[in-house]
Amino acid sequence: MGKVEVSGGAIRIDGKPVQMISGTIHYFRVHPELWRDRIEKAKMMGLNAIETYLCHNLHEPHKGEFDFSGMLDFERFLDEIHRAGLYAIVRPGPYICAEWENGGLPPWLSVEPGIDFRCSNPAFLEANDRYLNKVLPMVKKHLYTAGGPVVMMQIENEYGSYGKDRNYLEHIRQVYLRNGIDVPLFTSDGPCDWMLHGGTIPECYQTLNFGSRSEEAFRKGREYRPEGPDFCMEFWNGWFDHWGEKHHTRPAKDAAKELDAMLKAGASVNFYVFHGGTNFGFMAGANGNGAEAGDYGPTVTSYDYDAPLSESGDPTPKFFAFQEVIRKYRKDAAFGTPRPGRKQSPGRVKFIESAPLFGQLDRLSARRHALKPLTMEACGQSYGFINYRTVIDGPAEENLYFPEVRDRVSAYLDGEYLGTVYRNDANRRIPFRLKKETAVLDLLVENTGRINYGPLVGRDQKGLPLGVCIGWQSQIEFDIWNLELDDISKVEYGEYRNAKEVPAFHRGYFEAEAGADTFVRIPGVKGVVWINGFNLGRYWNIGPCKTLYVPAPVLKEGRNQIVVLELHQLDVNSVKLTDKPKL
Ligand code: GLA
Repeated sequence: MGKVEVSGGAIRIDGKPVQMISGTIHYFRVHPELWRDRIEKAKMMGLNAIETYLCHNLHEPHKGEFDFSGMLDFERFLDEIHRAGLYAIVRPGPYICAEWENGGLPPWLSVEPGIDFRCSNPAFLEANDRYLNKVLPMVKKHLYTAGGPVVMMQIENEYGSYGKDRNYLEHIRQVYLRNGIDVPLFTSDGPCDWMLHGGTIPECYQTLNFGSRSEEAFRKGREYRPEGPDFCMEFWNGWFDHWGEKHHTRPAKDAAKELDAMLKAGASVNFYVFHGGTNFGFMAGANGNGAEAGDYGPTVTSYDYDAPLSESGDPTPKFFAFQEVIRKYRKDAAFGTPRPGRKQSPGRVKFIESAPLFGQLDRLSARRHALKPLTMEACGQSYGFINYRTVIDGPAEENLYFPEVRDRVSAYLDGEYLGTVYRNDANRRIPFRLKKETAVLDLLVENTGRINYGPLVGRDQKGLPLGVCIGWQSQIEFDIWNLELDDISKVEYGEYRNAKEVPAFHRGYFEAEAGADTFVRIPGVKGVVWINGFNLGRYWNIGPCKTLYVPAPVLKEGRNQIVVLELHQLDVNSVKLTDKPKL
């Protein structure tokens, strides 16, 4: 029976002190057929451990219904880590931040009666316990103490930057103990007083998250835990991007210097991230705390993070810079030089069919009726789009006014586009004029990602939470379609048509080879792309990323299908598939 403990200022595995040099890979951001490849490459850089969060939101899509299949089969991911001979660090949350939708919390939690988040609230604890009681026995099978790779587990995530309910942290710890988790439990927090004060408990080992000034950070940590050992649980060697921002990069040299300082001082380090992967589908989160108007910032689809291994699994200059540093401290590591993955350029793909969205509503969703526009969460919907339809009768000659938009609404009167309002817009009015007695108003709202950090976590319900007004008058009687778009196979296509401001699915086919990645150049203003039914994620022409990553296992040898849902208008009648990303 193996044993892991934190004692005498060291992490000891079977009694021997181990300096952990670990790297983050989120299984839920990487195609499962590529897990082994990414883990092998981590080993080649010289790492001795892989760290991952677990994502409650995808594992429990509906209350009490669990999913651990395919990309969510984290036990298989842990098996792969074990197979590679590496240790594993698991951080189950339930809150994980991670630029991940709602910080990993399931959206249905938001409408549980009496709910409050990340504290000793009974409704929250009930959900927390149900989830942990499900996943912890699964992780337990993979603990080092049971012959598996998992040597440490985290409680919550950077709790001190959110709250100070230490009874809640202790409650989580007890759930771990009751489930027989017998490896060291730890917390991770920013290296400043209020965060450490709120986020640590004496019974748990304390780790720190930061990207620079490691000496200062560890000194602060030691004020609270004089015995150490020092562990940077999130060494931010790169960073993520929001839509409309410049792509973030961090020079390899600068990050390598910081790494060297930490390893030299004997500290353990986890690269956040070693390999970021992709926010496929609708799973990118957002930042924003409401402190300033318009501070909502949704995260882009790529989670490249300017990491040692790129989004498509290729070694970057950072990989080699870090490897060089690690060589000084791990003589026994199996260093290697990963070969870049194969890429292909299928070229231009012509769209041959289209299906305007408004003609597909009943094929994509049941229709429900409500007095006011219900939020997605109130409808039991998690992601995607929601369409509200009401009949307006005159006289009405005013503005449409949206007191609150989550997150982007386009309005159509009898199918004619009126305008779009984004959550951050200072002016949330759209001028409108009723030309006849009655007209049909459609309000198509996109959830562009729930906030994953700060006081608004869990509270970012999507849709039109305060309804829609004409002038100041609240409108009533809506038909609602919940466009989760998790299955678009029922869409019926007609002839190709790329009309201005008609949201539509467009479909085309292309030949590809097996075993090589490609990238989709974004084809229009804003929308979503599927290849062979796999949702690659959102695109938006404000950038910074101008391509979407298509992992090789999504492609088939021979004929492949591409579907684009474009909300406004395609640029041209085709889309380009290339072998180069543009982030
Ligand atoms: C924090 C969180 C992580 C991630 C990083 C930024 O440290 O703990 O989940 O959000 O910030 O990438």
